[in-house]
Amino acid sequence: MSWWRDMVCYEVYPRAFADSNGDGVGDLPGVTARLEHIKDLGADAVWITPFYPSPLADGGYDIADYTGVAGDLGTAEDFTELTLRAHELGLKLLADLVPNHTSDQHPWFRAALAAAPGSAERQMYLFRPGRGADGELPPNDWQSAFGGPAWTRVPDGEWYCHLHAPEQPDLDWRNPKVRDAFTGVLRHWLDRGVDGFRVDVAHALFKAEGLPDAGPGQHTDPWRNHLMPYYDQEELHPLYREWRALLDTHPAPPGAVAPPDRVMVAESAVFDPARLGRYIRHDEMHQAFNFAFLEAAWDAVELRAVVDGSYAVPGSAVTWLLSSHDAVRPATRLGSLRRARAAALLMLALPGSAYLYQGEELGLPQAEIPDDRILDPLWERSGRTERGRDGARVPLPWSGEHAPYGFSTAAPGGTWLPQPDGWAALTVAAQQRDPASTLALYRKALRLRRAHPAPDPTAPPAWLSAPDDPVLAFRRGELVCVVNLGAESVPLGLPGRPALASGPLDGDRLPPDTALWLIDPSCEGRADDL
Ligand code: GLC
Ligand code: CA
Repeated sequence: MSWWRDMVCYEVYPRAFADSNGDGVGDLPGVTARLEHIKDLGADAVWITPFYPSPLADGGYDIADYTGVAGDLGTAEDFTELTLRAHELGLKLLADLVPNHTSDQHPWFRAALAAAPGSAERQMYLFRPGRGADGELPPNDWQSAFGGPAWTRVPDGEWYCHLHAPEQPDLDWRNPKVRDAFTGVLRHWLDRGVDGFRVDVAHALFKAEGLPDAGPGQHTDPWRNHLMPYYDQEELHPLYREWRALLDTHPAPPGAVAPPDRVMVAESAVFDPARLGRYIRHDEMHQAFNFAFLEAAWDAVELRAVVDGSYAVPGSAVTWLLSSHDAVRPATRLGSLRRARAAALLMLALPGSAYLYQGEELGLPQAEIPDDRILDPLWERSGRTERGRDGARVPLPWSGEHAPYGFSTAAPGGTWLPQPDGWAALTVAAQQRDPASTLALYRKALRLRRAHPAPDPTAPPAWLSAPDDPVLAFRRGELVCVVNLGAESVPLGLPGRPALASGPLDGDRLPPDTALWLIDPSCEGRADDL
């Protein structure tokens, strides 16, 4: 079986992971120096978010040079070191590919602005004349995912499309030059030893011919995303087949210790399982993020429906995630650390592969960022109504009693995003000493999960609970997972040996918002076992 079908992949947001040189910004040597944390946790792979030169209008997802390394993060050699160390530790390394848009400081966009309407330079992007008597209205009604129109006008009167910030102009993927350029980018990083890519907004590259209006209700219901003329177009799929073939056939870099076994995962905010399944057909992406799971409420019926729906495409690789650099930390989003810990055991027992985001294993809450330190473009684009994602991106607490908690040797308050007070008990060092810590829970869970693999990671778990039960119970081979999402404690009465609990049990009862793993080699999977 392919390694990635049940891998645990750990997301690193490099500016917030570890700072090696005391400038207050996490960097590549910092990641390399701390890779053992990820190895010890029990992950199989690391996905590192963009580390390329960027003006940082959107946390590095506005790229000015696809084959460079950002000066504040290190050098090309530092990246090579990181790759070598990861491989030495037996970790795969995935890079982030951001093909939908460049930075407005990318040489292609600068050249496009300097060139005339209709020029080859402009055709790399989506420039269009406006509507209205003088072209003073945007070419269509598309809205940016960050708020406001998805169009900005340039001095000569044309408009360009940006589904995110204005500093992130969208490329025209119908232009073969764009396609060729990105084939080169993929080859570049494969030659440097990466084991694959996480593909940013993989549902957005192609826009419907003629750029038709999208109508009302854009970005309000993600279950309708696949209906938008700027998302989920048919033309995406031949492109992903091309990339898959490249990943499957591109030679291993010189000195590689093992033949490449690469993986490509779509960040595709398509919620409808049937539509999402199209990205992970056997010759396309290996995986796609399961955002329906991340967005699901803490509700047994809803979660069970999402879980069942996730296996809709037979044989395809299922993923699970509770957090990312874009999401509110689970301890805050789900209402309590207790729930976040129970959710972790739920997720890590489900057949398939799991993505963890740095700090999730510490149970960090979403941090409060003072108004004047907010960097996320969502804040200004929403008219300062949405605080954005910075609260999930503050530097990791490693050790010590006060900020910067071993993240950096910078003075307290000298980190690029401020850390809150009161995180001393949440540091890696503090949690390493505490067998009841969230870090200890994740470590044990990853070990048990590896020791008790799902017989088929592409098949749904065998449910032991009834569909409307506030308790979710299912089998993953010998491992039985029970999660109490109800308000009352419930009698356990399940066969098997308790192996791991997300919180204290109440005698032989499972308290609310608590999950338990049991090991039972002989369980027949009868619903009335509960
Ligand atoms: C993805 C990234 C997010 C970024 C957006 C635009 O959703 O995860 O951080 O803002 O793409 O590139
Ligand atoms: Ca640094």
